[in-house]
Amino acid sequence: MMTNKKSDKQELKGSDLNRKDHWEHVYSDKNAIEVSWYQQCPKSSLNLIKATDVEKSARIIDIGGGASTLVDFLLATGYQNLSVLDIAHGAIEQAKDRLGQHADKVEWIEQDITKFIAEESFDVWHDRAVFHFLTDTDDRLKYVKTMSNALNPGAHAIVATFDLDGPERCSGLDIVRYSTETLAAVFGAGFQLVETMSEEHKTPGGASQSFVYCRFKRV
Ligand SMILES: C[S@@+](CC[C@H](N)C(=O)[O-])C[C@H]1O[C@@H](n2cnc3c(N)ncnc32)[C@H](O)[C@@H]1O
Repeated sequence: MMTNKKSDKQELKGSDLNRKDHWEHVYSDKNAIEVSWYQQCPKSSLNLIKATDVEKSARIIDIGGGASTLVDFLLATGYQNLSVLDIAHGAIEQAKDRLGQHADKVEWIEQDITKFIAEESFDVWHDRAVFHFLTDTDDRLKYVKTMSNALNPGAHAIVATFDLDGPERCSGLDIVRYSTETLAAVFGAGFQLVETMSEEHKTPGGASQSFVYCRFKRV
């Protein structure tokens, strides 16, 4: 069983601090069920993780998992080696409070993904609505390098972003919209596209947001 471990906090400066501040403010201001990206059940993510056919002992990481209920459903399904990484302490605390004693079964990593160094490899990398916040080329390159280093050949990456007809901003921040083709191009030859799907997400406020989900295999 995994321990309840938190990575060392890195020194944050300038724009990094602004980024962290932004997300801490979001989670201090709002409850998990009020944010626009809230899903009662993250069905598409669960279906795509199931489609990888990994063992229940597989190491799965949810990048920018926030206070998402994905981890609850994965635990309930029997997955045993789960990690949730998020830049916001407040998001992790909300998820832990919700899970109660089950929170101890999860590795919680409070970290900016562009600074993250994986100490061990993962079998499944999941990211819904995080990569698209990286509007800076260097940050995207760091993300792809980190993801590439964290996954051995044959491992899986599931990444969901706003689709080309999705919103231009989220949580008051600019984002980059992707199609299956442009997302696959960013991840490059190290990732083979296995499956792609669209989703119309209904926000708690009733708006509709187009997402594209891609499942890749590490080559
Ligand atoms: C739009 S929310 C999506 C949350 C969750 N994945 C979901 O689908 O419900 C974006 C999340 O990514 C986190 N985040 C944003 N930028 C990040 C970064 N550079 N590194 C790690 N987490 C980040 C935020 O704190 C927030 O929880």
